Amino acid sequence: MKTSAAIPLVDLVTLHQELEEELISVFREALKTARFVGGTVVENFEREFAAFCDVEHGVGVSSGTDALRFALIAAGVNPGDTVVTVPNTFVATTEAISQAGGRFDFVDIDTRTYTMDPVKLRTYFETECTRESPTGRLVSKRTGSPVTAIVPVHLYGQMADMDALIELAEQYDVIVIEDACQAHGAEYFSRKENRWRKAGSMGRAAAFSFYPGKNLGACGEAGAIVTNDGAIARRVCMLRDHGQSEKYYHDVEGYNGRIDAIQAGILSVKLQHVTRWNEERRQCGCAYDELFASTRTNVTVPYRPPWSKPVYHLYVIRTAYRDELQKYLHDVGIGTGIHYPVPIHLQAAYRGAGWKRGDFSVSEEAAGEILSLPMFPGLRLEEQRRVVEAIAEFI
Ligand SMILES: Cc1ncc(COP(=O)(O)O)c(C=O)c1O
Repeated sequence: MKTSAAIPLVDLVTLHQELEEELISVFREALKTARFVGGTVVENFEREFAAFCDVEHGVGVSSGTDALRFALIAAGVNPGDTVVTVPNTFVATTEAISQAGGRFDFVDIDTRTYTMDPVKLRTYFETECTRESPTGRLVSKRTGSPVTAIVPVHLYGQMADMDALIELAEQYDVIVIEDACQAHGAEYFSRKENRWRKAGSMGRAAAFSFYPGKNLGACGEAGAIVTNDGAIARRVCMLRDHGQSEKYYHDVEGYNGRIDAIQAGILSVKLQHVTRWNEERRQCGCAYDELFASTRTNVTVPYRPPWSKPVYHLYVIRTAYRDELQKYLHDVGIGTGIHYPVPIHLQAAYRGAGWKRGDFSVSEEAAGEILSLPMFPGLRLEEQRRVVEAIAEFI
């Protein structure tokens, strides 16, 4: 039974109401000029977002899925190549690999961070790949094709352990493309470089989603690729625009994958607030940590390694009683989510590919126990207290 006002998993309404005038003026400007596709609004946003990620180039596209697909193609993943990612992600990660013409292998996640486990990646390279003779190319034993890239996913707003992953990628000569779709503004302390690095700045290229619920979200669909590699940026510009470098001159066959100017304008407005919103999310993350530490609930709270400054796209707890807890919270008016209930290798879409339960046990066990709690800028401490008290009552 509901006792007081509901607490949603995400509140997208308040945030947009606060910016209503600014957002509407973007639309008014677009109407005045009828510049709906391309133009300075798009170019400005691309420059601003690249600067936010500490990289040289940003290219706006129509979604995070397209961003990942174009990044893979532009970085040199060829049809048939094998790309390695994790099973605990949104399905778009593997869709993008397949749509780039690739095949995917998985390595399991780390138990505490839920991101790609570098130890398992090393084991994968050492035991599940061979060197093809006479080329010496690294080939996946499962797919029989060359392994050319890895896609670590910065899940829930926390970056994967990039130093370790990049070192392995260099050793085995594979490209690193970051799936940063959930990690706008997240940071990683590189022990190798002795400095903090932004999500999107460490791989050869990175993909971001601006799906409305993201830390930086459009009022519709959009995404971006960021990279320090000018050649990749130029290739992505062509791929998103039917392969043309000049109007009606098509050097390659591309896609209709552009960002529209209204979304780019809206994102420029919202980008000015993201650092503050991320800070609010971090405060909410710390508040949850403290509330759980002082309440007897027995749930596992998110692990934040010393090298990570996460941006809490999601605050994900873990408990063996997840389904019952979710139902209880729903009944008392608290919104939750599961990200994600079925690891990718067990999804119906990939039935027939040969994976089975037990192949990636860390992802599988997590999928049965994880629960995302309300998390958004503007979430109040009283609301967080109610969430944690409700969990304590249930337990
Ligand atoms: C990890 C991850 N990768 C890729 C995507 C795809 O982004 P989009 O929905 O913008 O295509 C998402 C979006 O939810 C995501 O969370």
